Amino acid sequence: MLKLFDIELFEMKATSRMSSDSMTTVPGEPGNALGAESRVHLIPQTPSLIDAHTRIRDRSSPRRDVLAHGRRVIRFLLEESFGFLPRDVVRVITPAGHTYVGARTTDDVCAVSVVRAGEALEAELWSIAPEVRIGKILIQRDHVTKQPSLHWAHLPDGIQDGHVLLLEPMLATGGSLMAALDVLNDAGVPDDRIIAVSMLSSPQGIEHVTRLRPSVRIVTSSIEERLDEAAYMVPGIGDFGDRWFGTDGNVTWL
Ligand code: PRP
Ligand code: URA
Repeated sequence: MLKLFDIELFEMKATSRMSSDSMTTVPGEPGNALGAESRVHLIPQTPSLIDAHTRIRDRSSPRRDVLAHGRRVIRFLLEESFGFLPRDVVRVITPAGHTYVGARTTDDVCAVSVVRAGEALEAELWSIAPEVRIGKILIQRDHVTKQPSLHWAHLPDGIQDGHVLLLEPMLATGGSLMAALDVLNDAGVPDDRIIAVSMLSSPQGIEHVTRLRPSVRIVTSSIEERLDEAAYMVPGIGDFGDRWFGTDGNVTWL
């Protein structure tokens, strides 16, 4: 089988590893079904995930269904992404008085969304982790050249001290993600502390980013077949920002 890159299909099986920080076993670590060291993770393709993907891609689906089932995809994606954040082993006492040995995500996590599409992930992120601070980067892909242009960034203080979930749901050519990574690097965040969260990814986009930034982790809910001549993903979802926000593709620059 031709492999453009190593995809780690991971299972949430009962594996554990030694945490380098605490040297204690962390329960519930994502397993590595292929034994590969890849930093590209296609989340488990469960029947429920495929159901949600089918509904959001169906062009006859009303927008309320796109939003409802899109939120399901986003939830799966974020829950899996959280598995790659550092965690502390904790012991809690249950209401029945027994000790449960578990693990909690550490507090040094920020998110950054690439405006506009990345904002679609924010509500679900906050429903999982309301304390997470969210920065924004406005990047616009030129409709003709497909080149990204960076307009502004507004990042949380201290972002360089922890891990960052970079919310960029469409990884097409990878240009926008690369521009966002540059912003985070300039702010002092190293690649190996960045988790790019992507709903749909193209093989070309993954290859682009992993070739130039091999330490960045990419978690995706789908790897598409290819890009078309307009640099949209196939089969894809069309323009995700327009589909999600209910706009028609016309940007007015003021
Ligand atoms: C779209 C999409 C991604 C980017 C991906 O954004 O939301 O950010 O293109 O393409 P790339 O990988 O080829 O760079 P766009 O700039 O169209 O803005 P939008 O989010 O407002 O739709
Ligand atoms: N942006 C999108 O929203 N979809 C694509 O397929 C490519 C870029």
